[in-house]
Amino acid sequence: MKLWSARRGLWNRLALIKFAQADVVDIPVPGADEAPVRAVPLSQRFPGIAIHHVLVGERIPTDEADARAQNFYRFLVRLGRIFGPNVPGLPSVVADRTAALADAYTAAHRRLFPVPELPVEFRAPDLGELAVASPYDGYLKATGPDTLEWDLRSLAAYDVHPGLVRLGVAVTFVQEDGRLRATAIESELGRCVPGDADWDRSVGLALCAATTHTSLVRHYNWVHLVPGTAFAIATRNDLPTDHPLKRLLWPHVFRTHFSNWVTTLGQLSAGGDFESIFSFTRESLLRLFDDTQASFDATVVDPERDAEARGVLGRGLDLPVLANSVALHEVMRAHAARYLHAYYPDDAALGRDTAVQRWYASLDRLIPNGAAALGDVSSIDAASRLIGSLIHLVSYQHEARGTLLWNYQMWTQVQPIRVYADGRREPVDVYQRLVNANFGLNIRRTPMLADYSYLALDERGRAAFRAYLSDLLALQTRLEGEPGALWKVYPEMLEANMNG
Ligand SMILES: [Fe+2]
Repeated sequence: MKLWSARRGLWNRLALIKFAQADVVDIPVPGADEAPVRAVPLSQRFPGIAIHHVLVGERIPTDEADARAQNFYRFLVRLGRIFGPNVPGLPSVVADRTAALADAYTAAHRRLFPVPELPVEFRAPDLGELAVASPYDGYLKATGPDTLEWDLRSLAAYDVHPGLVRLGVAVTFVQEDGRLRATAIESELGRCVPGDADWDRSVGLALCAATTHTSLVRHYNWVHLVPGTAFAIATRNDLPTDHPLKRLLWPHVFRTHFSNWVTTLGQLSAGGDFESIFSFTRESLLRLFDDTQASFDATVVDPERDAEARGVLGRGLDLPVLANSVALHEVMRAHAARYLHAYYPDDAALGRDTAVQRWYASLDRLIPNGAAALGDVSSIDAASRLIGSLIHLVSYQHEARGTLLWNYQMWTQVQPIRVYADGRREPVDVYQRLVNANFGLNIRRTPMLADYSYLALDERGRAAFRAYLSDLLALQTRLEGEPGALWKVYPEMLEANMNG
């Protein structure tokens, strides 16, 4: 325990330094580093991380580089190897998670960022309600006129740390009077129905599977790495510095390569956050990234098309998280449309722009299974939808599948971070690491609500940037007038990009 206190003290201090010293980075006008950034396999860029099919930038462009921060992250990885934040054999976290949090989330943390709140939907957790009103809303899929499901069975193929239950889970929902009721859960714990002795544990396992998949796949692989890298590389390489589309997209891609480098190092290195917090063994974790690269379907990036593909629209279900996501998506699509109309008199003019065509060809090549599900650049309409979705990816989706989990993942009595076969709770070092990793996601970053008109080439672009800001502010006011919820994303919570 003495060894653990020393390690805990040191790693808490490092988490606090990282938080307190992070600067909000201003976005410079593009052009400082014009050399292309090639896409290379992650395992080539990070020799200790055997993920071979996910592509990342081969270098951090000089305009994104931050030598001090990069050295700090390198130091953390080296320190982690010799004096890491985990110690085997520690006792479990106390049953009262408010007390556990009071211990793990120290007064020094609280001076920098407020304590997490317990979502109302967690008070008497009901999967039927959480399926539409939580950060896990994207898992709901129709299977029949009155039946829907969560299908996370694929996670059963990944080995877990000794003593843990495997994560493959399927939940069956029945729709009655516009509401969902979970009627069965299938998992390694067997097939359970409400009232069974293992029902509550199965609900916990389903939430554990959902939050694990959200953090690893939906947030890290399906925002940062797979489409995020493609978006950043195509925009940097294929659009000249003084191209209007480069100026429109620049605030949303700048610092992607830096961010992905530091976060990959911290989360996926041996002994990193992901394998130390979540259930999967290292080998399984790395395989999960390659597998979900291959199965990536860009439809997931467009909230309306994704909901349509899942069959949840038009069946009388109240989908409040989707409504919030779509409200932001509409403002982003309108911004793209206004901006493109300012520079292109018609679709044919857009079609003649070879740089735009090259940009789309790169995007389509770099996104596994192609970008077509998001739109293309054959018309201003299609291009606006595509661009609006990409901005939504790096802002709304990055927030909703990442930072927002602050108010969810700490409550491991409802949503365990690991499920132990013998019913034990997770050890104190795992909980502490979960707290510090999520705390780090809340570091203040470049906001979406800012005037980026200085990036525009001329008055046409400036006017479009200002109109976007004013639309976002109007949406902020509208949302403030509606009931609040912890799953809700407000424009003022958004960051311009996913820089770490
Ligand atoms: Fe992130």
